[in-house]
Amino acid sequence: METKYWFVDNIEQIHQHYPQIKEAADLIRKGEVVAFPTETVYGLGGQAKLDKAVDKIFEAKGRPSDNPLIVHIADQKDVDELAHSVPVYARRLIEKFWPGPLTVIVPKKAGVLSERVTAGLDTVAIRMPDHPAALALIKQAGVPVAAPSANRSGKPSPTTAQHVLDDLSGRIAGVVDAGETGVGLESTVVDCTGDYPIVLRPGGVTEADIEAIAGKAATNTFLQKQEDTPKAPGMKYTHYAPEAPLYIMEGTAESIQRKVNEWQAEGKKVGVLASWENVPFYKAEAVIVCGYRSDLTSVAKGLYGALRAFNEESVDAIIAEAFPAEGVGAAIMNRLEKAAGHKWISTK
Ligand code: TXA
Ligand code: MG
Repeated sequence: METKYWFVDNIEQIHQHYPQIKEAADLIRKGEVVAFPTETVYGLGGQAKLDKAVDKIFEAKGRPSDNPLIVHIADQKDVDELAHSVPVYARRLIEKFWPGPLTVIVPKKAGVLSERVTAGLDTVAIRMPDHPAALALIKQAGVPVAAPSANRSGKPSPTTAQHVLDDLSGRIAGVVDAGETGVGLESTVVDCTGDYPIVLRPGGVTEADIEAIAGKAATNTFLQKQEDTPKAPGMKYTHYAPEAPLYIMEGTAESIQRKVNEWQAEGKKVGVLASWENVPFYKAEAVIVCGYRSDLTSVAKGLYGALRAFNEESVDAIIAEAFPAEGVGAAIMNRLEKAAGHKWISTK
């Protein structure tokens, strides 16, 4: 299949790109799948009511079919088309954070969506992205759009259209390119089926942000650590992984460099996933920067691109600096832990 490419450089004046958006939306209406930018990462969109479109998403990604998809809408009101019921606290979260990087899981209305979207669950994950191109595309398509991240399953999520093409060129109908995404990590996924919200996947909207609006919130760390019977089925699969094994290490740049030296003495080629602040301290076969330690939002934005960049280097192992797991740091460490398969190097 030839993958079409549409460049939309003026996202503040998205109406100027109507011809491109229309062509992409028409393909979605016909049941094809198209990648598009959101404020978090690029998504791979298909009609959420159409089995055949949803099948194409799973097939293009190589994603296990028991892992449900997020349904994207362009209007807050559309939540009631898809949800059977929305608790009051979830309405407050929606009002505060939509459009934006927050996904709510609510009981689904029966018979509306393809069963494949929700992998047979009686709940549905819904979000309204904060990106002019995404909103224009969903509006123009006129249907709810199921969209996982537009990477091959197991790879880091794409933060540029080039990442999408690296993984999915020839496997999807097209990609809308609006440059690098803003947040860089996927949305916060919040279970809103109980008495209070439970964060299943940390993201740019933090537990503290949610608590401030809903009064009470919790993070399901048990389910994030335990790999079996997770509440968000996606948590059980290895994710975001570069090809070389990745290890996380706490401590100073000097102690990380000592580990690099040790491995190099054993004949290994070593990569370091570094912050800008620590770059001057490293001598390794590849030093790739993900952002500023002093500004964790820059690390969130740069993390996946940095993980992907290691695949261009021939290294035998990668050491990643650890970051404080607070605020957006919780999301960064969640993704790093998954990329590392929870492998840590002890500091002593
Ligand atoms: O930022 C994002 O959320 C991006 C952009 C494209 O919107 N999308 C994204 O989708 O990250 P995906 O499919 O890669 O991740 C969706 C996560 C998975 O961990 C999945 O298991 C979980 O949400 N999920 C979806 N529906 C669910 C449901 N009904 N119950 C529990 N977890 C659900
Ligand atoms: Mg994903």
